[in-house]
Amino acid sequence: MKIDGQPYRAIFPAEDGISVKVIDQTRLPFAFELKTLATMTEVGQAIRTMVVRGAPLIGVAAAYGLALGLAEDSSDGGIDRAVEFLADTRPTAINLRWALDRVAAKLRAVPETERAAFAFAEAGRIADEDVESCHAIGVHGARILADLHRQKGRPINVLTHCNAGWLATVDWGTALAPIYVAHDAGVPVHVFVDETRPRNQGAALTAFELNAHGVPHTVIADNAGGHLMQRGQIDLCIVGSDRTTASGDVCNKIGTYLKALAADDNRIPFYVALPFSTIDWTLDDGVKEIPIEERDGREVSHLTGRLADGGFATIEVVSPGSPVANPAFDVTPARLVTGIITERGVARASAEGLLALYPERRAAA
Ligand code: MRU
Repeated sequence: MKIDGQPYRAIFPAEDGISVKVIDQTRLPFAFELKTLATMTEVGQAIRTMVVRGAPLIGVAAAYGLALGLAEDSSDGGIDRAVEFLADTRPTAINLRWALDRVAAKLRAVPETERAAFAFAEAGRIADEDVESCHAIGVHGARILADLHRQKGRPINVLTHCNAGWLATVDWGTALAPIYVAHDAGVPVHVFVDETRPRNQGAALTAFELNAHGVPHTVIADNAGGHLMQRGQIDLCIVGSDRTTASGDVCNKIGTYLKALAADDNRIPFYVALPFSTIDWTLDDGVKEIPIEERDGREVSHLTGRLADGGFATIEVVSPGSPVANPAFDVTPARLVTGIITERGVARASAEGLLALYPERRAAA
């Protein structure tokens, strides 16, 4: 995707060939800054503090982090320690664990002196594959938008939650990829963007992306979605996922479940867009089995933003002393999901639906 006419990926190798560059997402939407990550510790810190975030992107970042860790210690024990350190940074998105396991499994057969370079190249391959997958998700999802546009004969209104755009992946995004592909093909699409408290990934990041790409959109308070659905102002919802069970339950940013309930009540299609790396084939019951990240309560009790004079400030918004809780994700059961848009096509949100798209998993099921 382009920023001021220049194409960017959310993560890419630095000119030195041994460190990586990322877009600092804690500075958006007011400042576009690149950050160089030169050590595994720096990558771990960037994931924890959400300089990089979004399920596919933290997977790729972790893979690069592993390569940087091996530059310091490429022994078998070094691989184990690096994987443990990086896997511990964020618990919900399975892409992180998936990417680390993929690189680590291949590393054992590589001589120690070549491991860091091998892992760096493998991280690059994961990044390239993610771009391909996300673009394919865009192509499959755009057909849904184009069909709806043909039926209704007017611009299509999509509601999305959090940021599942190119900033959350390497390029294109998951939930936003169909919107970009449809928009670029001339299908008129307007996006209602949930602000997504407490960290405001919708207001800050999704709105930034859509602005940069020229996609018509409106930011709404998280609580406005149900009302707009009742008024017929939303044609469909598309969100991303951080972990999807083999049975089609999806775990995404906190508040997604409430949107799915409202969509169900109003008979509005609710789609979830995700690449294969987000499916955890070992899990069946998302509500019981997916670990939900509990983040710092300060994300709820405080807000950071830009002042009229251009400076930045963090302010307190909760009654001082009141306890706060900050679960970062929730699970939407498969029964509330109309379809799962993957790089291979659109699946029913069920074990059979997913296995029909990924028949190679049948043996393991
Ligand atoms: O806490 P975050 O910002 O990493 O959460 C991201 C999301 O929940 C996205 O919707 C998700 O990763 C979708 S996949 C691009």
